[in-house]
Amino acid sequence: MTSTVTGGLPPAYHRILARSQDLQFSMNSDVLTGTLLRSLAASKPGGRILELGTGCGLSTCWLLDGMPSDASLVSVDIDATFQTVARDELRADARLTLVRQDGGDYLTDASGSFDLIFADAWPGKFSHLDEALGLLAPGGIYLVDDMLPQPNWPAGHAPKADALAAHLQALPGFAVTTFQWSTGVIVCVKR
Ligand SMILES: C[S@@+](CC[C@H](N)C(=O)[O-])C[C@H]1O[C@@H](n2cnc3c(N)ncnc32)[C@H](O)[C@@H]1O
Repeated sequence: MTSTVTGGLPPAYHRILARSQDLQFSMNSDVLTGTLLRSLAASKPGGRILELGTGCGLSTCWLLDGMPSDASLVSVDIDATFQTVARDELRADARLTLVRQDGGDYLTDASGSFDLIFADAWPGKFSHLDEALGLLAPGGIYLVDDMLPQPNWPAGHAPKADALAAHLQALPGFAVTTFQWSTGVIVCVKR
């Protein structure tokens, strides 16, 4: 058995990747995390999904590719230039709502609950973690990637990632799995 991409790439994948490269955006999730996001999204009929950190929309297109037709996705990013790529490429999908806002403010003001949260920005991961976890429905999934050392990490980031990993692995009320796979993924399912 090998780690591989089954089921093909999402329709918008190559366009978004090319435009992100034109913008020198280097923070796209990798394809393995993309396939996991697609699979988890597929497990949420009628689900509400939240992505913190749209970037250019690469992980967004994986989530949309898995989501049942009656699920919905809110994706939040503070940066208009990057998020505009997602807006251009994915606007035809009525299941998607793109929000340009600070992720911490979004989490502080959010109402209702989410069935899957992909926390791929500072807020919801290294800050406002309790707010993000508090928004999960029972059975809801919280997922982070980039937990193994990455070439684009700034100096001093490794201890922060290690501390977050240790915190998530000890979370009461969650079933937690750590994957030394892809860029390092932690999945926390709310009991
Ligand atoms: C790792 S990238 C997201 C990549 C994207 N999820 C993907 O895999 O294609 C992190 C994103 O967080 C955004 N960001 C940074 N600070 C933020 C904040 N305070 N609130 C919301 N988004 C923020 C950045 O603009 C960037 O697009």
